[in-house]
Amino acid sequence: MREKLVIRGLHKAYTINEGFGRTSSVVALQDVSLRVQEGEFMTLLGPSGCGKSTLLMIVAGLYPKTAGEVLLDGCPIDRPGLDRGVVFQEFALFPWLSVKNNIRFGLQMKGVPREEHDRIIRGFVELVGLEGFEDIYPHRLSGGMKQRVGIARALAYDPELLLLDEPFGALDAQTRASLQRMLVGIWEKTRKTVLFVTHSIREAVFLSDKVCVLTARPGRVLDVVPIELPRPRNMLSAEFFDYERRLAGLISGQLGIEAQDLFITD
Ligand SMILES: Nc1ncnc2c1ncn2[C@@H]1O[C@H](COP(=O)(O)OP(=O)(O)O)[C@@H](O)[C@H]1O
Ligand SMILES: [Mg+2]
Repeated sequence: MREKLVIRGLHKAYTINEGFGRTSSVVALQDVSLRVQEGEFMTLLGPSGCGKSTLLMIVAGLYPKTAGEVLLDGCPIDRPGLDRGVVFQEFALFPWLSVKNNIRFGLQMKGVPREEHDRIIRGFVELVGLEGFEDIYPHRLSGGMKQRVGIARALAYDPELLLLDEPFGALDAQTRASLQRMLVGIWEKTRKTVLFVTHSIREAVFLSDKVCVLTARPGRVLDVVPIELPRPRNMLSAEFFDYERRLAGLISGQLGIEAQDLFITD
């Protein structure tokens, strides 16, 4: 398999302006190295504040890095681009555009010929189960439906890499479960390379080929755990729970808390 995304020695420090001419520095990521193979579903898992979003935003080209290398298909990333599709937790749809035109946006940016738009949009509307909602505006959609649009919009222009930052974090448990299933289905159909961020151990085990566990701030790679379970995965199986327990052990070990406490807020 080919290496799609290569991160080497990535370092990120935020400079904080304290006023009166003083600044301080917060190290968010320290010496992070990670390789994602073509077609792989990689998840970044770690406690809140460990630098997951920072890492994703750097790969998206939306934040500058302090040091290190980020390569997509061998090319350094230093700005946003249509080779990456991004889905955020807070939906980030264009409120002035209908579902259809939100999805169309990337096609226009990429210069896809106008006569192909309707066919492509129809395909992605179907893929995320939004038939009949094409002309609706985002404010009339539920959170789950908004995120369906977000995923369709990010995939429609056929990026090389799909980046998702806690996309289901703001959804109720049932909606979240159905979108997780939908995402697995879409990934199996499209075989996109995915970098997914979550703090939910269960979600990481349900979705991923590999889970990259980050330490508390400054974020470093604690371990990369391959999840060797057939899909669709059964969250109630003993094997599933073994993985959950193993990941909870890794995270709790370096937070200095009980592993079982990590299951309370999941
Ligand atoms: N724009 C910013 N300026 C200063 N510090 C930031 C900024 N964004 C994030 N941080 C800090 O960097 C650390 C990592 O943040 P983040 O990447 O959002 O973590 P996560 O997504 O894992 O919760 C946190 O301590 C956060 O307070
Ligand atoms: Mg975050």
